[in-house]
Amino acid sequence: MTRPLHYDILIRGGTVIDGTKAPRFYADLGITGGHIAAIGHLEECSADEVIDASGRIVAPGFIDAHTHDDMALLVQPDMSFKISQGVTTVIAGNCGISAAPLRSDMELPMPLNLLDAPGGKRFRHFADYLAALRETPSAVNVAAMVGHSTLRVMAMESLDREATAGEIGAMQALVQEALDAGAIGMSTGTFYPPSVKATTEEIIEVGRPLTASQGLYVTHMRDEADQVMESLDETFRIGRELGIPVVVSHHKVQNTPNFGRSALTLPFIQEAMRHQCVSLDCYPYTAGSTMIRTDRGMLDGRVLIASSTPHPECAGRDLDDIAKEWGVAKDEAARRLQPGSAIYFLMDENDVQRILAFDETMIGSDGIPVGESPHPRLWGTFPRVLGHYSRDLGLFPLETAVWKMTGLTARNFGLAGRSTLKVGQAADVVVFDAASVRDTASYAAPIQAAAGIDTVIVNGVVAWRAGAHSGARSGQVLTRTPPQPKEAP
Ligand code: ZN
Ligand code: CU
Repeated sequence: MTRPLHYDILIRGGTVIDGTKAPRFYADLGITGGHIAAIGHLEECSADEVIDASGRIVAPGFIDAHTHDDMALLVQPDMSFKISQGVTTVIAGNCGISAAPLRSDMELPMPLNLLDAPGGKRFRHFADYLAALRETPSAVNVAAMVGHSTLRVMAMESLDREATAGEIGAMQALVQEALDAGAIGMSTGTFYPPSVKATTEEIIEVGRPLTASQGLYVTHMRDEADQVMESLDETFRIGRELGIPVVVSHHKVQNTPNFGRSALTLPFIQEAMRHQCVSLDCYPYTAGSTMIRTDRGMLDGRVLIASSTPHPECAGRDLDDIAKEWGVAKDEAARRLQPGSAIYFLMDENDVQRILAFDETMIGSDGIPVGESPHPRLWGTFPRVLGHYSRDLGLFPLETAVWKMTGLTARNFGLAGRSTLKVGQAADVVVFDAASVRDTASYAAPIQAAAGIDTVIVNGVVAWRAGAHSGARSGQVLTRTPPQPKEAP
């Protein structure tokens, strides 16, 4: 077979980190028809566009293992907050909340309303949502899950109790419908008010349709503080009873009394991995972000308001200061600011580092793409891992960092045909400068594109070039390819 001598895009002179954790090597990379056509010495070849990558790293486009981009994909389709970091694929529908299925006449409770965006639509069927993503593609690829809290809102008259057999049946039908349409699994968020009352048994029953198609069970666990071990146990049990892989979302141990407990949770996770399919993701910050809550555990530390529907002027301010100004207690101020989102400083840096460095941990931003003052993870997660944690602190080699954002993530989510740099793979590629890559988004100024990300290519089309968006929207809807069953002996 002769190698084609002309490519659509030729990335020349770069150092390839291929997403498998293998050591880097020098190679040119040729892209044709949206796929990687050649890797090697291609100096004889020509291309419509030649990208000089000398002194740069050439890596697979990053996969954001945990996002809330469900509606942003449709209303902010340039997805600059992701593309600018080198992210080319996002997993949507996390923490029990998904954009579909929902009826247009419904009032959405917190935190489902975090997905509601101006200009956003409602989708009665999961297939309608995926069809909209296909009709109006965004700049990134997406694989989507259906959220159990969303299903509860659809199927239940009141959420302050466990589901009845009839309601479970209705939710099962919606899970099956979502899977048939192309959902890669189901997420839960039993930490959140709409699902606090859902029992383990309810989740297992609602999740029954996942077994046949080997869909994923992905969870924002019931408790990431005092009861974190019990929550892990519940998560593993659900995975075992359904015989499906589980993903522990944004693993953390929060609140001061629990600092250091990642030394217990990680061995516990590792032990479970010996018997069943378990994976986990993490974001590289000591603060989390979610809906504005009024419970003590969440209000213990510093709280920064990210967005507030009744008081948009309070975005970016400390809850303490707002409470003082209003002459009320912190929880009362929080109540008045609802609905909205906030940033909570509840973690210890040592735990964040231990979890990030755990071999099996994927990188997921958990960014919430609403408002003017989001958590900086929305724009900074991936360059922060590459720059701050891998290069500056030496927490792990760059090859490992890239693997945690690409090959590992694709394996765990069953995304076939991309995520590593190999001939034949979809051409999702990022070119970055290992010496200067860093996050610039901060709590004070969170909307900032990263430094050091030069070029981002999605399905063979340049989406980001020299610090600016190209306007390309070449993202695709991805479905899951479950691992092949082992052959009978
Ligand atoms: Zn969550
Ligand atoms: Cu989340």
